[in-house]
Amino acid sequence: MKNIILTGMMGSGKSTCAHLLSQRLGRPMEDTDDFICRLEGRSVAEIFAAEGEPHFRQKELEAARTLGMCSGCIVATGGGMVLQREAMDALKQNGVVIFLDRPAEQIFDGESLEGRPLAQGGKADFLARFRVRESLYRGTADLTITDFSSPEATVASILDGLHRLGETS
Ligand code: S3P
Repeated sequence: MKNIILTGMMGSGKSTCAHLLSQRLGRPMEDTDDFICRLEGRSVAEIFAAEGEPHFRQKELEAARTLGMCSGCIVATGGGMVLQREAMDALKQNGVVIFLDRPAEQIFDGESLEGRPLAQGGKADFLARFRVRESLYRGTADLTITDFSSPEATVASILDGLHRLGETS
């Protein structure tokens, strides 16, 4: 059974939706940030501060390779997963990729982005980061979700899309 892979910017709701999907579908879930933190024994912010982004990206690639070998799992990715082609290839070989296309401006204005080292540079920086990534999110997605009226509505939209793709039982 294919994995369900959620991508999108920091704060787009990937972890929340993964939890809800896991409950609705009775499937296990994993969050790549949590996976890395467990292995490293420290937080994402601590990893960035001590080792820098390249080290974190290497761990993210390893997480993608490991989780790409699972079956039937819901995977919430870190917002920068799409930056590494190899990581997305590893996740896509047994996964349907769902992009949570929540407007970056809405995220920045409405969500707490605490604990995210790459979201501390202000709004213009956050929006620019999204613009750099946008084609990667779109290009790797099998399904794009645009309803963020509530987490339940987003999940309903995901389930509907998966059904249309023939990816749910
Ligand atoms: C990052 C997103 C974060 C985390 C790290 C880098 C990014 O995950 O992986 O801080 O580059 O967008 P979330 O998307 O879960 O916040």
